[in-house]
Amino acid sequence: MSQASASPEAVRAVDLRKSYGDRVAVDGIDFTVPTGSCFGFLGPNGAGKTTTMRMIYGLSSPGGGELEVLGGNIVTERRQVKARIGVVAQETNLDGELTLSEGLAQQASYFGIDRSDAKAKAQELLEFALLADRADEKPRQLSGGMKRRLLIARSLVADPDLIVLDEPTTGLDPQARLAVWDSLERLKQRGVTLVITTHYMDEAERLCDRLVIMDEGRIVADGRPSELIAETVGAEVLELRPLPECDEEGLIDSLSDGSITGIERGPATILIFSGDAEAVLSRHDHDRFPLESALARRATLEDVFLKLTGRSLRE
Ligand SMILES: Nc1ncnc2c1ncn2[C@@H]1O[C@H](COP(=O)(O)OP(=O)(O)O)[C@@H](O)[C@H]1O
Ligand SMILES: [Mg+2]
Repeated sequence: MSQASASPEAVRAVDLRKSYGDRVAVDGIDFTVPTGSCFGFLGPNGAGKTTTMRMIYGLSSPGGGELEVLGGNIVTERRQVKARIGVVAQETNLDGELTLSEGLAQQASYFGIDRSDAKAKAQELLEFALLADRADEKPRQLSGGMKRRLLIARSLVADPDLIVLDEPTTGLDPQARLAVWDSLERLKQRGVTLVITTHYMDEAERLCDRLVIMDEGRIVADGRPSELIAETVGAEVLELRPLPECDEEGLIDSLSDGSITGIERGPATILIFSGDAEAVLSRHDHDRFPLESALARRATLEDVFLKLTGRSLRE
C-alpha cells in the first residue's frame, strides 16, 4: 500500500456541495471515511448519493467545500488520486465482442501491466468474481448478478486502495445480491476501503461499518448501523394494525410509558419504538383496543429513516 492510504482517513469532506443549475443536489455535507472500512450512503432516489460518489472519484468537480481523497486533493491532484480508485458506477454498459478474460486483460494493459501479467491478472480477477468458468464468454451472455460481479472485477484491475460502488445490487434478485455481498465482504477482509451507496436498508446494515443517511442533499444521521438504530428508534418495534373500530388515540395512550422512544403513525399501521416490543405488547388490552395484527420485530435502518424524515426509503 502507498503512503497516503496509510492515513487514517480515506475520504474527508467538509461542507461539500454541488448544484445543477438551480437544483441543489448536495447541500453542504460533512463526512469522514476511515481507511479500511466499508462506508455507506443510504438514502432514497434523488438524495444526492450518485452526485457525491461522482465527486469522490473525480468524475465531477465539487461545487463548494473541501474534498480530500486518499490524502490528496481530488481537484488539483486528480490524476494521481484517480489512479488509486476503483469505480463501479450506477449505470455501466457491458457491450463488446471481447470475452471476459480478454476484456480484463485489455483493461490491465491500459494500466501498463505487460501481456503475460495481464492475462494472469485477468484470471485472478475472474476467480475472485467467481466467473472463471465464464472466462471465454462475452458479457452479454452473463446474468445480471454476474455482470455486476464482472464490473467489480474490472474495478480491481489496478489494485485500488479505495473502491466506490454506486448501488452495487440495485435491480438484482435476492440470490444475485448475496453473491455480490459475498464479493464485497471478501474485499473488506483484504483491507480495501469501500464506499457504497444503496437505498436498501438491509444491504447497508449488513455491509457497512459506518454510514450516513442522506435525504434531499443533506445528511440526516450518521454512525454505526446498530448504534444509529439503538439511538434513534430503540432496538425494537411493535407494529400494530388497528381494526376500524379501534380508538387509536386511546390505544396509544394505553401503551405509552417511559420505555417508549417514539411513535410513527402511517395510514394503516402504528409503529411503537422501544427497547422491548414484547413488553409493550403485553400491556395491550385486546378487548378495549381490537387489532387486526400485532408484530414485535427488531428495528431497522428503514425505521430510522422513517423517524427522521417522516417518509419511507422506498417512496
Ligand atoms: N446531471 C444532472 N443534471 C441535473 N440534475 C441532476 C443531474 N444529476 C443529478 N441531478 C439531480 O440531483 C439530485 C440528486 O441526484 P442523485 O445524486 O443522482 O441522487 P441519488 O443517487 O441519491 O438517487 C436529483 O434531484 C437529480 O435529479
Ligand atoms: Mg444514484
